[in-house]
Amino acid sequence: TIIIIDFGSQYSELIARRIRETQVYSEVLSYRTSPEKLREINPRGIILSGGPSSVYDDLAPKCDPEIWNLGIPVLGVCYGMQLMVKQLGGTVEKVKLGEYGKAELFIEDPTDLLTNVANGSTMWMSHGDSCTNLPEGFSVLAYTKNTPCAAISNPDRKLFGVQFHPEVVHSEGGNALIRNFVYHVCECEPTWTTETFVEESIKDIRAKVGDKRVLLALSGGVDSSTLAFLLHQAIGDQLTCMFIDQGFMRKGEPERLVEIFKNKFHIPVEYVMARDRFLKQVDGVTDPELKRRRIGHEFIQVFEEESKKLGPFDYLAQGTLYPDVIESADTNVDPKTGERVAVKIKSHHNVGGLPKDLRFKLVEPLRKLFKDEVRNVARAIGLPEEIVRRHPFPGPGLAIRIVGEVTAERLNILRDADFIVRDEISQQGMYHDYWQAFAVLLPIRSVGVMGDKRTYAHPIVLRFITSEDGMTADWAKVPYDLLETISNRIVNEVKGVNRVVYDITSKPPGTIEWE
Ligand code: XMP
Repeated sequence: TIIIIDFGSQYSELIARRIRETQVYSEVLSYRTSPEKLREINPRGIILSGGPSSVYDDLAPKCDPEIWNLGIPVLGVCYGMQLMVKQLGGTVEKVKLGEYGKAELFIEDPTDLLTNVANGSTMWMSHGDSCTNLPEGFSVLAYTKNTPCAAISNPDRKLFGVQFHPEVVHSEGGNALIRNFVYHVCECEPTWTTETFVEESIKDIRAKVGDKRVLLALSGGVDSSTLAFLLHQAIGDQLTCMFIDQGFMRKGEPERLVEIFKNKFHIPVEYVMARDRFLKQVDGVTDPELKRRRIGHEFIQVFEEESKKLGPFDYLAQGTLYPDVIESADTNVDPKTGERVAVKIKSHHNVGGLPKDLRFKLVEPLRKLFKDEVRNVARAIGLPEEIVRRHPFPGPGLAIRIVGEVTAERLNILRDADFIVRDEISQQGMYHDYWQAFAVLLPIRSVGVMGDKRTYAHPIVLRFITSEDGMTADWAKVPYDLLETISNRIVNEVKGVNRVVYDITSKPPGTIEWE
């Protein structure tokens, strides 16, 4: 294990992912983690993240200086390196010329940390403070034009620091540096692989669940599908997978899901047809928040009723992922008292959010994984690409892609339009060019002309998005001829639509979904 100590950097998670890409397990912990806790975990190495503060700020986050005496190798990145220098008796100062963006790295000592990092590599920098005097026992490994101490080491104590960010993609040789730290300095073994994860989680599930029964709400997304597979491997028919058909899925999706699970994996799915109930709940509702609440609430209702019928169950399987439970510098400490507060757990349930106070105990086999690791596991266990790389789809489904009132007729219109969007981009091999690509139905109507006849029908909005994480997004610069084909097909094939428009709003200020 490599522990990342987080000082509030936006890159802490990224560092953890880079480490895991070297097949070594890593976790992010708060800078308040005690030396005792670290001793107990006994990691092979520690990485101190960057952070927005200056080491001289009164309120700057600091780690316990005992960390330097644990005998565990430490790599400080940016702020982490400055803290190391300051706490060990060196000097850090605000300098006239900070360095932001790319900088060329000149290597003086190409051993240890910098083995296989080319002299003149471009590294990505972002700092206004610099180390001007190194503590005893430290020497400079590399410098840049404006930063004399760009990489430093104290080989005897296995303490290292880099002023640049090896974890970001723009840093050439960043991966080599990380591998050097992980393999040469910390002497880790590459044991964090998909195969070992699958093996171990099956063991863990068995140990935890014993002969008890587990209930899982399947949504069709990659998380719940992977979860179903792992649990089924581990405990066979002690697992019950429930799929609630709210009627807001895309064309053919519910049938396809059940078919894949039954035929390919021999995992039976309890299919709950609840379309009428959900439609009744949203009848006449135009307020987006009320719509979401009604759907969420109904989901819980149905879930509870059905679980009673199928139960009793002891455990509920949840697709909690690592970013949901990660401790970060800011979120797990009360800023007033400095007390640790409970780690916030977001339940990113595609199925619409399960009740928090159900009488089940939780089993969460994916809680150590990042999303891309879930996808790797999903592939390894043979889930089809259509599930592994499916675009994100909101829990309330098409109901929040119909602006205003949801009716059976509007759902049919949107389902057909959405199908054409997916069909065209898949045919053109462009499905994976977008984070999401979908259709939205507007409740207004506008005038058109078709075959000499006046029409008065709904517009469809096309929303194509590029994004890294869904938090910010840009509208995709889709080729005109693709837009043209999709538009033609929709107005010709979908009754009730006479106009297609393209949404050119980024997020922020627009959200990805329209409701
Ligand atoms: P917004 O519309 O907030 O969406 O920009 C950001 C991302 O989240 C998805 N989304 C949801 N996912 N349940 C979900 O599981 C929901 O209720 C929900 N609402 C939005 C959205 O599709 C986008 O990827």
